Amino acid sequence: MLRRLHSEQPDSFAFTPDNQAWAEAQITKYPEGRQASAIIPLLWRAQEQEGWLTRPAIEAVADMLDLAYIRALEVASFYFMFQLQPVGSVAHIQVCGTTSCMICGAEDLVAVCKDKIAPKAHQLSVDGKFSWEEVECLGSCANAPMAQIGKDYYEDLTAARMGEIIDELAAGTVPTPGPQNGRYASEPLSGLTSLKEFDSGHTKYNASVQLATDIGDTVKRIDGTEVPLLAPWGKANASADASNANEKPAAKPAAKVAKAKAKPKADAPVTKNKSKEKQKGNPVPAGTKPTLLSEARDGGADDLKLIKGVGPKLEGVLNGIGVFHYDQIAAWSDNEVAWADQNLVGFKGRVSRDNWVTQAQALARGEETEFSQRAKKDDIYKE
Ligand code: FES
Repeated sequence: MLRRLHSEQPDSFAFTPDNQAWAEAQITKYPEGRQASAIIPLLWRAQEQEGWLTRPAIEAVADMLDLAYIRALEVASFYFMFQLQPVGSVAHIQVCGTTSCMICGAEDLVAVCKDKIAPKAHQLSVDGKFSWEEVECLGSCANAPMAQIGKDYYEDLTAARMGEIIDELAAGTVPTPGPQNGRYASEPLSGLTSLKEFDSGHTKYNASVQLATDIGDTVKRIDGTEVPLLAPWGKANASADASNANEKPAAKPAAKVAKAKAKPKADAPVTKNKSKEKQKGNPVPAGTKPTLLSEARDGGADDLKLIKGVGPKLEGVLNGIGVFHYDQIAAWSDNEVAWADQNLVGFKGRVSRDNWVTQAQALARGEETEFSQRAKKDDIYKE
């Protein structure tokens, strides 16, 4: 199937404050230089927020991760978990059509979807509540035929049961996922032949279904408020104060990240939502703005990418606000570091986390750091 961006796209995307805080915390899970590894969780969260993955959302996530848009689009268009067009407001049903399921009746399930939802895959039902598609093997072949609905599997399906499930979802209930023919898991239909002791003392449902039932979020979309937004792995994480680890971090303005090529005025902070932030009464970020330049001095800008934590996109942002040289960063006081930590939207906390000042001091003296040596040797930013 051809997976491409939908022909109709919204004008913009911004994470909600809760989701923005969550996303920034996720990024801190990965080692320096590997922040792009957060792409799937961030795209997923964007999809959970909007229902499907829009182009502005993909680009916003790419901006946050200092990635070229095409890199993020490659991920979004590769995985079937990402929906590139609007889906049903209640549920998007993914019917497995691969060998085991096909032999066991997947085509009958598809026929039910065509009849009850829409004649073609990815079309919305008339009431907008449902959509469906056929997908490749979902790894539940021993319980064929099956379908994924929301976050859970419905297995051992029949056409009749599939129809009932759609009706139940339309009525506002969430049918219990897992085997629909009375099986506990994937044991023989005639009953256990071995490991019979497991027949007693287990949970009501198999582990997957029990968890799904306990959580109860099969078709409920995550909105960022379900779990504490913690980042216990990141001591200097800007989103989660380690000294306040059991509380949510303060809500942040849902700002789309500043683009590297944007050239804000030298005396303006790198955020598009500054005025909104003031309107909402949020505190103005702490710190003192360092001295900025209108352009690089004679001889040109230093290669700021030799500072660990600065990629091509962030280097563009820094140049855009008037930071071109190692000695500028090397001279930053603690207050100026705090200002930079707060104002590099999408890269908050990066300056202190990676100790830019110490790195810049070495580079300004003409010395190498462990990272600058590696960056030069591996040419890590070569496209
Ligand atoms: S063939 Fe359907 S889950 Fe594997």
